[in-house]
Amino acid sequence: MKIVFMTGNEGKMREIRAIMADTGLPVLSMKEAGISAEIDENGTTFRENAVIKASAVGAQPDTIFVADDSGLTVDAMGGEPGVYSSRFMGEDAGYDVKIGEILRRLEGLTGEERSARFECCMAALFPDGEVRTAYATMEGQIAYHTAGENGFGYDPVFFLPEYGVTSAEITPEEKNRISHRGKALREMKNVILTYLGGV
Ligand code: IMP
Repeated sequence: MKIVFMTGNEGKMREIRAIMADTGLPVLSMKEAGISAEIDENGTTFRENAVIKASAVGAQPDTIFVADDSGLTVDAMGGEPGVYSSRFMGEDAGYDVKIGEILRRLEGLTGEERSARFECCMAALFPDGEVRTAYATMEGQIAYHTAGENGFGYDPVFFLPEYGVTSAEITPEEKNRISHRGKALREMKNVILTYLGGV
C-alpha cells in the first residue's frame, strides 16, 4: 500500500512525509506517481475541493489518494477569501496585494472584530472507493500590519493571540504542531491507520 498526495506543492509534501513517516507507508507526490491531471477545483467548500482532488484519478488497488484544500476565512469579510484564497484579487496578484486588500477592508476594526481562521480539509480515497475527510482550523486574528518571514501566503498577516506573533514568526515545527493542515493531517493519519487495520 502507498499514499499518493495530490499536490504539486513541495512544502505540503514535506509536511505529509514528516507526519506519515512512522506509518512506514511510502508517500509519493503526484509527479512521482506519474500523474499530470489538470484538476478543476470548482467546489464551493473546502471539503468539496479536497474530495475533487483526491478522487481525480479514481480508486486504485494498493493506493490511498490524499488531497487537501485550505484557505483563510475572515469573519468581518463574510468568510472571504475562503475557498478562493489563492485566487483572491486575481490568480496572478501577489500576496502583498491580497493582504493589502484585507487590511484595507478591516480598517477601523479592532481585537475580536478582526477574527479569522485558517481552515483545512483533508480527503482520502481508499482502494475500495470509500472517501473519508478530516477537517481542522487554526484560530487567530488579522494583524494590523504584516510581520515575519516564515511560512507562506497569508501567514505574515495572521496574528496568533496566544503567541503574540504572526504565523510567519513561529518556526515551521511549531506551525506544524498547531496549524489547520498539521492537525487535519494527523487526524487523517489515524483514519488511514484504522482503515488499514480493518482491511
Ligand atoms: P490550496 O489549499 O493549495 O488550494 O491553497 C489555499 C490557499 O490558502 C493558499 O494558496 C494560501 O493563500 C492560503 N493558505 C492556506 N494555508 C495557509 C497557511 O498555512 N498559511 C498561509 N496561507 C495559507
